[in-house]
Formats: sequence, structure tokens, C-alpha cells
Amino acid sequence: MHISASIIAADLLNLAKEIEDIINAGVDSIHLDVMDGHYVPNFTFGENICNTIKRKFSIPVHAHLMVQSLSIEFVERFVNADVDSITIHLDSAKDIKKILSFIKSKNIRVGLALNPDQSPELLLPFLKELDSITLMTVKPGFAGQKFIPEVLHKVENLKKLLNPDIQLVVDGGINLETARMCKAQGLNNFVIGSALFSNINYSGFVDSFKKISAQ
Ligand code: DX5
Ligand code: ZN
Repeated sequence: MHISASIIAADLLNLAKEIEDIINAGVDSIHLDVMDGHYVPNFTFGENICNTIKRKFSIPVHAHLMVQSLSIEFVERFVNADVDSITIHLDSAKDIKKILSFIKSKNIRVGLALNPDQSPELLLPFLKELDSITLMTVKPGFAGQKFIPEVLHKVENLKKLLNPDIQLVVDGGINLETARMCKAQGLNNFVIGSALFSNINYSGFVDSFKKISAQ
């Protein structure tokens, strides 16, 4: 079981303390939702926050780029910020393959995200390049949205298409209940925003979350 904390839902005025607390609670990595105000209506973080986090903490940081007309130059900012993986969206650039290969050439793990309305077959031309696939269980753009259970219908098909080395990550609306639904489909790699940061006791939440995999 892997928990990646989406800090979009953290108390940003106390970010250092928030990160310290989630690390102590046993979170495995940080998920950074980079939203540009175009690909999605919301606008969030740039590469500077990655640099700042990496300088202070040794936890892995995964950048999830929700950016329109994505270019090599844009991706390079995150490569230089020392992120551990970069996930991009299938429809965010004309030449997706070129961007995936560029990220890979920099020895950074690379992923594609599949929106709720996108079919797994769209991933076929890119499978060789990929280390992970992020199954979006909400429409990208905001934290705190409701999990879309129908997305789980794609899992069986996805598993048929994928080489088992490709990690399947679930992002959006994950809480104890929806994680159990995902676990029933054999999924155990989660991005969690609101359900984690709305807790007073992060350790208690992470402990009960990790127990799901033992159930
Ligand atoms: C949605 C983002 C998610 C989301 C996670 O566009 O990619 O990472 O913010 O937050 P919750 O867990 O609140 O859905
Ligand atoms: Zn995300």
C-alpha cells in the first residue's frame, strides 16, 4: 500500500509543519497537483515549491501536471526541480511521446493520467514509455470532489493491457470507503488529499488506511 499525500488540500500557511506531520504519520510520498488555469480551471503550484520541499525533506515528490499545450521547456522546470516522477495528461500536448521520452531520458519516472471519460485503449501507443498510470476518479481540477465509482470498470481492461511492472495509481476522492472499493479491484497505490488533511490526527488516519490492505 502506497499513500501519496496531495498537498493541495493541506493548510498552505503551515506547509512545513503539515509535511513534517504527514511524514511522521507514515505517508510514503507527496503528490503535487500542478494546475495552470487552462487545462483545468484551477491554478496551483509551480516548480519552486518542489525545490523548497526537496531542500527541507527527503520524501519523494510526484508532480501531476494538469497543463495545456505542455512543452519540453515546461516539463524541464520540474526535471530541474528534482521531482521523483512526472505524470502528464494524454490530451495535454500534441506530441505526448516526445515529452514522455524526454522525461525518461532524464531518469525520472514517467506516468500518464487517464481522465474519467477516457478509455484505456488511448494508452496503447505509449505503454513502452510508462512507469505508471494514474486513474483519475474525479474530473481533474479540484480537491474534495466525489469519487466516480464507474471508473473502476476500466480496471479489468487496463490490467489486460498493462505489463505488471507499470504501477496503477488512483487519484481523486479517495477515503477509507472508496479505497476499499479500489482494493477490491487489486489497487493499492493512492493519492489522498482532503480525506487525509481534514483529519486532526494524521497518524490515526494513515494507520487505519494502511490496515485496509491487510483486510
Ligand atoms: C484532482 C487532483 C487530485 C486531488 C486529490 O485534479 O489531481 O490529486 O486534488 O484530492 P482529493 O483526495 O481531495 O480528491
Ligand atoms: Zn493529482
